Amino acid sequence: MENVEITWHDHHVTRADREKLNGHRGAVVWFTGLSGSGKSTVANAVDAKLHQAGIHTYLLDGDNVRHGLNASPEILEKRYPPNAAERFGLGFDQEDRTENIRRIGEVANLFCQAGVLVLTAFVSPYRLDRMLVRRIVEESGEKGDFLEVFVDTPLHICEGRDPKGLYQKARAGVIKGFTGIDAPYEEPINPEVHLKGGELPPDQLADQVIAQIRSLGKIPGE
Ligand code: ADX
Repeated sequence: MENVEITWHDHHVTRADREKLNGHRGAVVWFTGLSGSGKSTVANAVDAKLHQAGIHTYLLDGDNVRHGLNASPEILEKRYPPNAAERFGLGFDQEDRTENIRRIGEVANLFCQAGVLVLTAFVSPYRLDRMLVRRIVEESGEKGDFLEVFVDTPLHICEGRDPKGLYQKARAGVIKGFTGIDAPYEEPINPEVHLKGGELPPDQLADQVIAQIRSLGKIPGE
């Protein structure tokens, strides 16, 4: 690797300027939970309700981001020079998941600096990976800029839903290293929001998340 020198430049328009224009604060609302737990559904409901209320939001969703920024080697090799797939393509082993979350964390942080309320929906099974994102976001801004939302839906419910048929494939050994089956999910210890995924409808879970965002002063009160 050649020696690269890079210099940080402060922006003329600050985050505070952007937040003033927007009428609310930037933040990263990080949903984590098993596949099929309802992360995307609840995050989409939060997104829709906040958008309706005039808040500048953006949702980064696992399945979509893995088609682009964090594409698999198979996708990359169709579009880019041969070594790109090997160097930059991501799968689901621990190292690749860590890189997946690192890239998303940096992108989410940029949105936050732009004064946007960014929502993310990734399994993000490793505690350390989530902690590192929290650190990136809080070091660029302040404590309270990162809200971890644990979508705590029991495995048997996620597996019963199995919207993409992946649990069935994991049980059959067709997919290896599937979170909750033969790869770990490390539960958050102190999440800002703890949602009981199997017990309430998405709409009510979304309201719990919004209440917490509001109580942290990120969006105007009632
Ligand atoms: S993460 O672990 O790196 O955070 P991410 O949220 O991007 O995962 O992607 C998870 C989605 O990819 C799941 O909802 C599921 O549809 C799919 N998937 C494919 N293989 C796996 C696997 N081995 N473990 C978990 N999810 C997988």
